[in-house]
Amino acid sequence: MALLIGVPGETAAGEKRVATVPEVVEKLVKLGFKVAVQSGAGAASNFDDETYRTAGAEVVGGAAELWGKSDIVFKVRAPSPAEVALMREGGTLVGFVWPAQNPELMQQLAAKKATVLAIDSLPRQLSRAQKMDALTSMAGISGYRAVIEAANAFGRFFNGQVTAAGKVPPAKVFIAGAGVAGLAAIGTAANLGAIVRANDTRAEVADQVVSLGGEFVKVDYEEEGSGGGGYAKVMSEGFQAAQRAMYAKQAREVDIIITTALIPGKPAPKLITAEMVRTMKPGSVIVDMAAEQGGNCELTEPGQAVVKHGVTIIGYTDLASRLARQSSTLYSNNLLRLTEELCKTKDGVIDVNFDDDAIRGLTVIKEGTVTWPPPPIKLPAAPPKPAAAAMPAAPKGHGHGASEPMSAKSLATVFGIGAVLFLLVGLYAPASFLSHFTVFVLACFVGYMVVWNVTPSLHTPLMSVTNAISSIIAIGALIQVAPPLTASAAGAAVNRPNALILGLAVVALVLTAVNMFGGFAVTRRMLAMFRK
Ligand code: NAI
Repeated sequence: MALLIGVPGETAAGEKRVATVPEVVEKLVKLGFKVAVQSGAGAASNFDDETYRTAGAEVVGGAAELWGKSDIVFKVRAPSPAEVALMREGGTLVGFVWPAQNPELMQQLAAKKATVLAIDSLPRQLSRAQKMDALTSMAGISGYRAVIEAANAFGRFFNGQVTAAGKVPPAKVFIAGAGVAGLAAIGTAANLGAIVRANDTRAEVADQVVSLGGEFVKVDYEEEGSGGGGYAKVMSEGFQAAQRAMYAKQAREVDIIITTALIPGKPAPKLITAEMVRTMKPGSVIVDMAAEQGGNCELTEPGQAVVKHGVTIIGYTDLASRLARQSSTLYSNNLLRLTEELCKTKDGVIDVNFDDDAIRGLTVIKEGTVTWPPPPIKLPAAPPKPAAAAMPAAPKGHGHGASEPMSAKSLATVFGIGAVLFLLVGLYAPASFLSHFTVFVLACFVGYMVVWNVTPSLHTPLMSVTNAISSIIAIGALIQVAPPLTASAAGAAVNRPNALILGLAVVALVLTAVNMFGGFAVTRRMLAMFRK
């Protein structure tokens, strides 16, 4: 029987987002679910009841009724005790839960025999999980909004300008922490025309900073900052002292500081001291995106914008909610992708399958049993290149014992069968077919060798260079524009194409040239992103 997904209005103070937008309601209905939305749930993010109704949802008057009738509840913020009390026994909850920070909530939900899918606990390192990664989508929006808030509080242009009234220098922005939010902030500030610098303890982000238009500022101290899984660790005293000296210098020089530095399970590192704020130019701005976790700046007041020593310090903790329509849309798309994974049969029923690493990771309670923290995920230690290379031989039958001689034997069998088939084609097919067939087989072989021997991360540049190479079809147009030389002058006259064909050939040449040079240029830019 089709389950009912309920979307209540968010009750946390100032929260403007909604867990499901009308566009996603339509898609959930297509997956076989029934959807109910609390009246006014989308109002703060500009989605009215009528649009939900048109999309196929039932609009329900009160929270009690909605929670009571829903088999599955989609939420943004973790539910309050009052909301858990309204929840149906044995129901399913999907949303931000933060199990480590909310042990009491976990107990209440377990007592309700609930199944809880905490979107914050999704194993982000799985590439398959990216489409469901609400932490990333929300952090991207927050990073953008942080720059907009800074621009709003800052009394000058971001870009440099030369006007009749005088020359304006570009604003200098320093970003502390270049994770998802930091990188979004770098891109936004650079696009607005500011000079952007950034620092992170994880040296591997330096290239990403540069590719977004920023400059990576190093701390003068050798220490690896990666704590595993793409996250940071607490740094040594020596590093912290060197980092403070560098940040103090930046504070004196820049106009805007945006801090995003976080370490999982730890309070936010204090990077900007009161003394550094004192040395900043009057009218400067600090946006502390780590305010909720204690703040990266000593003078931050979470949730507030305050002015201290002439510097505006913004500690808003609802940056994503301040772009409510955008964040609701991306968040509900993340939940839709999760629902698709839970309901592969498209019949409105979910299967919380623990064999799936992504689903296992984010299921923090299953039917009243706390299943958090999940067991660690076993990722392949090295790129699975040899396995991929052996794959074409494997389907021929011999499943196990993927040892060297076995795969070589299978390969020989495949080649043997191929050779016999080729001989038969050669004996019986017409000559014209044979020549086309040869080209086809060679193309398959070359294509196979090229694609399978390139690391998957380089497949996008490979596609663009292949696209550029496909412009070899220009030869056809070239032959039309300048026909091949024939034995006699009379012959040449006969071969001359008419004006229409000539014109079309010239147009074709121009278009393929754009494709060819553009393809190579795009490939060069993509490859530059991978170079150290
Ligand atoms: P986060 O919000 O936990 O941290 C923000 C940034 O602050 C991180 O880049 C961290 O290195 C930096 N930081 C921590 N302490 C610092 C200090 N003392 N000084 C300067 N910087 C400091 O991290 P976020 O943005 O959620 O993700 C961080 C990284 O995780 C991403 O950049 C990415 O590499 C990785 N990730 C990987 C995913 C995947 O494999 N599919 C998905 C999402 C994230």
